[in-house]
Amino acid sequence: MSTIPQELATEAGLRFPEKFLWGAATASFQVEGSTTADGRVPSIWDTFCARPGAVRNGDTGDPAADHYRLMAEDVRLMADLGLGAYRFSIAWPRIGAETGAPNPAGLDFYRRLVDTLLEHGITPWPTLYHWDLPQSLEDRGGWANRDTAYRFAEYTETVVGALGDRVDTWTTLNEPWCTAFAGYAGGRHAPGRTEPDAAVAAAHHLMLGHGLAVGVIRARTRATAGITLNLFPVHPANPDDMVDVEAARRVDGVQNRIFLEPILQARYPLDVLDDLAPYGIGEVVKDGDLTTIAAPIDMLGVNYYRDHHVSGHSDESSGLPSEWVGVEYASFPARGLPLTDSGWETNPGELTALLVDLHRKYPQLPLYVTENGAAYPDNIADGRVDDHDRVAFLESHLAAAHAAIDRGVDLRGYFYWSLLDNFEWAEGYAKRFGLVHVDYQTQRRTPKLSARRYSRIIQENGLRG
Ligand code: NOJ
Repeated sequence: MSTIPQELATEAGLRFPEKFLWGAATASFQVEGSTTADGRVPSIWDTFCARPGAVRNGDTGDPAADHYRLMAEDVRLMADLGLGAYRFSIAWPRIGAETGAPNPAGLDFYRRLVDTLLEHGITPWPTLYHWDLPQSLEDRGGWANRDTAYRFAEYTETVVGALGDRVDTWTTLNEPWCTAFAGYAGGRHAPGRTEPDAAVAAAHHLMLGHGLAVGVIRARTRATAGITLNLFPVHPANPDDMVDVEAARRVDGVQNRIFLEPILQARYPLDVLDDLAPYGIGEVVKDGDLTTIAAPIDMLGVNYYRDHHVSGHSDESSGLPSEWVGVEYASFPARGLPLTDSGWETNPGELTALLVDLHRKYPQLPLYVTENGAAYPDNIADGRVDDHDRVAFLESHLAAAHAAIDRGVDLRGYFYWSLLDNFEWAEGYAKRFGLVHVDYQTQRRTPKLSARRYSRIIQENGLRG
């Protein structure tokens, strides 16, 4: 028997709630290019890209998808696809790192972007920080320096002051885990540091910056405010093996709970405080910080790509990457699930589990899937990209999102990652996540089969069988 409530079921398929927001996402450094235009200052990603061996093929933030110059064309493309919302990020280096006069040309780009979206009936969904910290702030310690949180609040003042009259929803940070742990401990993301203490300090200062930014948004606007986290369901490989259970607890702590609990419950989990005590967490958290961090939010953005299947028995061949601060022993054994081109296992059912679990813990909090997507080795032939793998990925994850709604989760929207093929961080241009293919030589855009499929899903507000 079907478990789909009558009002959500079509004859052969799944219908989403009315007003469900259908979107696609990008981020400034990954799509804009024009890294020296109109007064943009260098970011940590410009510096990291220049470091030999840091980014595959020596790729850099230019040309990316040249979105800075092709913005109007891209918004027309979004309108053609029928997108209801566009999630993008604002590049702090375009606005200016220092207090005092912000860069008018940088603000103007985002003003034009927002206005063009609104003219096309597309909701702008800006994120204030998606990893491109101005290099001048990194030179003063970056996110490991508490002062960066206050600089972020000032930058938020500037941006919200300029765009607050036309933006209804603000996201403070995207995936602070990546900034803190991949950037400051793992070294595989900018700024490329391998200092676990700095990573722990960065994680806390990102939280503080988030809370301060929410305060600024509240003081200046009546907009909705939230944050986007990359959350992973975590399971011990063998639930009867206490070594696996303990490793899974630590992974869950430093991946998920270290962000969720301060934001939503005004506390760090006690076990995480213990695990991270040797890395100085006790010294960076000051009186009053948790009250600032727990400023109420109106929505939580969830980025879901995969789950973590954790063994506590270390993998002799690869070792534990240094980004897993406080985890000590763990490995992530493969389960033979289908892989994307990033080598990530696909497990759509775990999206349902994640959303249901979040809703159970935080029942009042509206949720959005702010990223979900996959890289596949797309081939363009005769002007077409028939990315059947991505179509299957999209459909299976939307069915999983629908199953969560069906179980009572207040899921209000879904953003596919990504609208366009783009700069996939340390992987450079080698991994394509887009609904729309980008030829980096000509900057020609070709909507893939998945774009057409998504467009139909949006039109029908659901999946037909
Ligand atoms: C998460 C990040 O927010 C985004 O920048 C990245 O490209 C995708 N995941 C895919 O890795």
